[in-house]
Amino acid sequence: MDRFVEIAKDLYYVGGNDRRISLFESAFPVPRGVSYNSYLLLDEKTALFDTVDNAVSEEFFGNLERLLGGRTLDYLVIHHMEPDHSAGFARLMEKYPQVTVVAGQKVKTMLSNFFGFDGENMLIVKEGDVLSFGKRSATFFAAPMVHWPEVMMSYIPEDGILFSADAFGTFGALAGVFADEADFWRDYLDDARRYYFNIVGKYGPQVQSVLKKLAGHEINCVCPLHGPVWRKDFGRYLEKYDTWSKYLPEEKGAAVFYASVYGHTKHAAELLAASIVKNGVPNVKVYDVSVTHVSELLSEAFRYSHVVFASPTYNNGIFISMENLLNDLKAHGYRNRKYALVQNGSWSPQAGNLMQAVVREWKDMTQIGETVTILSSVKEETAQNLAVLGRQIAEDIKNS
Ligand code: FEO
Repeated sequence: MDRFVEIAKDLYYVGGNDRRISLFESAFPVPRGVSYNSYLLLDEKTALFDTVDNAVSEEFFGNLERLLGGRTLDYLVIHHMEPDHSAGFARLMEKYPQVTVVAGQKVKTMLSNFFGFDGENMLIVKEGDVLSFGKRSATFFAAPMVHWPEVMMSYIPEDGILFSADAFGTFGALAGVFADEADFWRDYLDDARRYYFNIVGKYGPQVQSVLKKLAGHEINCVCPLHGPVWRKDFGRYLEKYDTWSKYLPEEKGAAVFYASVYGHTKHAAELLAASIVKNGVPNVKVYDVSVTHVSELLSEAFRYSHVVFASPTYNNGIFISMENLLNDLKAHGYRNRKYALVQNGSWSPQAGNLMQAVVREWKDMTQIGETVTILSSVKEETAQNLAVLGRQIAEDIKNS
């Protein structure tokens, strides 16, 4: 059975859910699945806004055929060439060979590279160009690096509808299509944050640039390429994007990340976390970085104002999973946080200085207290040092 939803007059959601996928982009666990969104406008001209991943192509093409009802497809607007949105291109061109492909200049090269498409029937558009479909039109905005260089967004001024490409998307499949048909803040926010920081988080300045472009436009409905469509309370989500893309902490509190081989560094992390809570800050999360997926750790690190990295020394270096987390944070431009360090070593503790060297390369990072060193296991003196460090972190959180 086809599954499409009219999201505004003559504008239809024609995408679908993948609930079988385990790793999005072969990297990110998506236990709640993911949606690949596409939209069809039936105006005097017909226009499709992006295609979908192969995983949902059957329902997508079924939706398309049924809604077109024998009409031709006049335009395919391509906002983003990543294959989770462009995989349907070749089959679409076979079914609708007369379609005019509307996209930015960079898409032309990517269509050639991905599909051997020669660029016939292409309408190259740029920032500010307008294309009329009849009663409605689309104005195009360049959105480079949100999340690839060719990305653009489209805005329908007649209704205030924005096609936002990857921006404002989220992991998590959809039951209804609209954000207000679910409890987004309870059920999707963690996935939305994890999606943002892992997919687009590296490109905060580019996201800020797009937010500024959109600021002067009335936006009544936002149609992203993943996750629900927004027709209510979008301002609240926009505020999150503004905070995230400015690299500001979303919450005052601490995320304590530890790696532990035999439990001693874990013990230290637990004592430290307990001290932060005891000193008046209940918003503390503790993660074993060898257990929790790094995409979640990354998201939680961006979420909190204060972070702790606690690692054993391993092969004269930082423990593997902690090093992986630090590398991932670096790759995503992590910055502007308070941090504390704990190291463990049985004969030559090195992890503290090595972590320090990594974190010092990041922008606007400030260390709280001294690095606490454990020699194999926590003793009375190290327990006291951890208690003091916990109090210092708590005081700093309360005063920030
Ligand atoms: Fe959902 Fe960057 O593709």
